[in-house]
Amino acid sequence: MDAEQFIRGFRESSPYIHRFRGQTFVISLEDESLSDGTLSSIASDIALLRSLGIGVILVFAASSRIGLLLEKNRLEMERTPSGPVTTEKILQIIREAVGSVRFEIESALSGGGDNSSMSGAQLKVVSGNYVIARPMGVINGVDHFFTGKPRHIRTEFIKSHIASGEVVLISPLGVSLSGELFFLDGKDIAQAVAEEIQAQKLLFLMNEEGIPERKERSARELTSKEAKTLLDLESLSPNQKEHIVRAIDTVSAGVDRVHLVNRLRDGALLLELFTRDGCGILISADPFESIMPATLEDIPGIIEIIRPLEASGILKGRSRETIETDISLFSVTRRDRNIIGCGALYPFPKEKTGELACLAVHPDYRRCGRAGNLLAWFEKRAREEGLESIFVLSTQTGHWFSERGFSPCRVEDLPSSRKDSYNHQRKSLVLKKNL
Ligand SMILES: CC(C)(COP(=O)(O)OP(=O)(O)OC[C@H]1O[C@@H](n2cnc3c(N)ncnc32)[C@H](O)[C@@H]1OP(=O)(O)O)[C@@H](O)C(=O)NCCC(=O)NCCS
Repeated sequence: MDAEQFIRGFRESSPYIHRFRGQTFVISLEDESLSDGTLSSIASDIALLRSLGIGVILVFAASSRIGLLLEKNRLEMERTPSGPVTTEKILQIIREAVGSVRFEIESALSGGGDNSSMSGAQLKVVSGNYVIARPMGVINGVDHFFTGKPRHIRTEFIKSHIASGEVVLISPLGVSLSGELFFLDGKDIAQAVAEEIQAQKLLFLMNEEGIPERKERSARELTSKEAKTLLDLESLSPNQKEHIVRAIDTVSAGVDRVHLVNRLRDGALLLELFTRDGCGILISADPFESIMPATLEDIPGIIEIIRPLEASGILKGRSRETIETDISLFSVTRRDRNIIGCGALYPFPKEKTGELACLAVHPDYRRCGRAGNLLAWFEKRAREEGLESIFVLSTQTGHWFSERGFSPCRVEDLPSSRKDSYNHQRKSLVLKKNL
């Protein structure tokens, strides 16, 4: 990678770095990563998340280690459609397997020789009795003995560790209120933890792609409604379908986003979280609030937002007729039935650029990233239209744009038709962003 690429990549990641600081992510990890050598790179990516101020809860599974130990002890674990049957003897094996997986993960998270990517990370890792379990019980006549389900998550306990900058490591074992140990599915725990602490993200590090053959980011960002339609696809494996169902359930329980990431891809966590294109599948709740192309019905809402801004000289005046004529260029943020944000993209196809105009958010809804989301929406539209840059003319909001990757340029650099209509009295700054 040359210096220019590095700088571009680093800058591209900065909005995500700012946005994620102070957020909490739950990561669900399969234990195959211990045997195939991917654990150390996952550990250093986790260390990086921590140093960027992201709270990390890592929930691990131990199925493959359990399988190995069972084989070694010539034991077999019965499975029903509801889950494994954990007898007392098998629970002994599971305890041993989970313990050894835990120590290996702790040691990977503690590594940090001078030349390693963990150098200087000094991660503090804690584990404990965060998961209160209940027995799965007898299902269809089969007693599942020590197989359990999460009953309650000790969220305050976890949150206090996160607030102290510690990585919380959770094993697939839980204790019941009577002090008995139960074997749980790590993915059940990851979901329960994400839901109960209302994490911003749950990331499943899978052993395969979440949905194969989806190259475009737009095809990999799904609402839960869209995700449901995929469940009939024959091309998806049972494991992929299971993860999609889990993702749908988790977002409907209030977690903002669930990512399905192929952990076999080096740096998958970082690519997914800090690049525009990502590399995994992102499933989010069906939006109560969303950005969409504007229609004529939205004009009163748009006018309500922009008129006061025009009156104070922040936005250039636009007649209702102009908005009507240009309505196909507008998009709006609709919250329930109200318009709370708007903007318009005027393309200049010959120059492969576009003007972002009229970007505004209703004063009651500011400072929650809505204008940032509108900007991302228009950038995506601009790229889809084949534009290579967008520009804005701003009198008072220059800093907002420069903090989001725009750089000042000259009036002479505007497309010629726009240069001619530039109002020299407004003395707007011209800022441009390459896409
Ligand atoms: C600028 C505007 C669109 C931002 O909307 P928003 O949804 O609050 O934006 P975001 O939540 O993505 O960003 C909020 C951040 O931008 C900052 N910000 C707001 N207006 C700013 C300005 N004029 N200059 C620099 N930063 C600004 C806020 O202080 C906040 O940062 P903070 O939380 O660190 O203090 C909104 O304030 C607005 O509608 N302003 C009037 C219209 C306007 O100026 N439009 C630009 C047209 S050129």
